[in-house]
Amino acid sequence: MNIKPVALLFTVTLSACGQPSGDAQNENPRHYDPLRLAQGERTFHTHCSTCHGWNGEGQAGWQKPGPNGALLPPPLDNNGRTARLNSKQIMAFIRQGSPDGRGAMPAWENKLSMREIDDLTLWITSLWSDRIYLEWQTKIEQDAR
Ligand code: HEC
Repeated sequence: MNIKPVALLFTVTLSACGQPSGDAQNENPRHYDPLRLAQGERTFHTHCSTCHGWNGEGQAGWQKPGPNGALLPPPLDNNGRTARLNSKQIMAFIRQGSPDGRGAMPAWENKLSMREIDDLTLWITSLWSDRIYLEWQTKIEQDAR
């Protein structure tokens, strides 16, 4: 199970919050429900990691279309660009898959429940560093609400 580093990250972030820095910005915004996170990870390993890699690292050469002109599975972690999408857009992408002919991302709306897609999205955001997550939370996610 891949939850340990995440749990460790929380411990570190939480203890950092305990410091008397007097800086409200330091408040930890990452309150994940461990059960939902574990479910998201399990669904990812069942349906998604064959393409996107076990830890969401994607496939080499994803920046450009492959020989057949289709896009390769991109990383969903810090090395990718997924944090440009708000959570509604990420969920819509998972539900609908690639726009016609662009890539090989299958549509999942008839195979996974909304709850499963929600948990998957939560797990994807948990892959990001605090810096990327905070930027996403303040610039992308908040604006979309
Ligand atoms: C058959 C291979 C394949 C499988 C299985 C697959 N994907 Fe993808 N995925 C892709 C490809 C290829 C793209 C890029 C397609 C595009 O941009 O049109 C992509 C793109 C994405 C994106 C957009 C990322 C970004 O930064 O633009 C997300 C989110 C995503 N996939 C999540 C998932 C999830 C969650 C699952 C499992 C439910 C999954 N994928 C299963 C191939 C796959």
